[in-house]
Amino acid sequence: MDAAAPGPAEPPPRHVAIIMDGNGRWAEARGLPRTEGHRRGADAVRKTVRACLERGIGFLTLYAFSSENWKRPAEEVHDLMGLLRLYLRRELNELAGAGVRLRAIGDRGALDRDIQASIARCEASTRANGALVLTVALNYGARNEIVAAARSIAADAGAGRIEPAAVDADVFASRLQTSGIPDPDLLIRTGGEHRLSNFLLWQCAYSELVFSPVMWPDFDADSLACAIGEFHGRERRYGGAGG
Ligand code: FPP
Repeated sequence: MDAAAPGPAEPPPRHVAIIMDGNGRWAEARGLPRTEGHRRGADAVRKTVRACLERGIGFLTLYAFSSENWKRPAEEVHDLMGLLRLYLRRELNELAGAGVRLRAIGDRGALDRDIQASIARCEASTRANGALVLTVALNYGARNEIVAAARSIAADAGAGRIEPAAVDADVFASRLQTSGIPDPDLLIRTGGEHRLSNFLLWQCAYSELVFSPVMWPDFDADSLACAIGEFHGRERRYGGAGG
């Protein structure tokens, strides 16, 4: 039996989020430039999107560029942006044909204008799709996202548009960029590190965390199956006693 084939019994996690780590180390271990690791990482993105569609996963969120990644050498940032540009241009038809809806979160205003335009075009042309919502986090940082939500609520409270006592977790979540997307059930980080790195800090309050030693360029349908298997072995209690 194909190890990557979806299991018949267990429903898949509704939302899988992934911190795609290890591109640089994958390349360095092979004597290749880091860019080659990112290029192979983009291939792993394609495979993972396909595997999620096959498994009936409704939401996939990928951490593609953090607000801290600008600190990398200019050449690496330039190459990452080039890959993103290529991905948006080349994949649109295939994504749209497969029923994928593309969304981006993060501060897109700092991205090159043509990339901003491509994102807007992809979001608009896939808006009606419902097989998989693919959210790409670009120039994203969870603390910035939470601060922006707090600021918008404070502005509304100051202007008398909302009562402070009416602000609860649902109201707060509705001000985040992920509004309308369910919280991740499963958060996978590849590359062997055990950190959240400022990704979806609010949304992952009750997510199951799976840390995979696989470097992102090697991540495939089998690696996803492995992480989902670990997820299914967990008992989710949401702070209750379980049983
Ligand atoms: C982490 O590896 C990966 C990134 C910072 C970028 C992720 C980007 C891609 C997978 C390619 C483009 C994305 C899309 C959506 C087409 P790292 O460089 O931090 O690896 P290291 O920890 O081994 O140095």
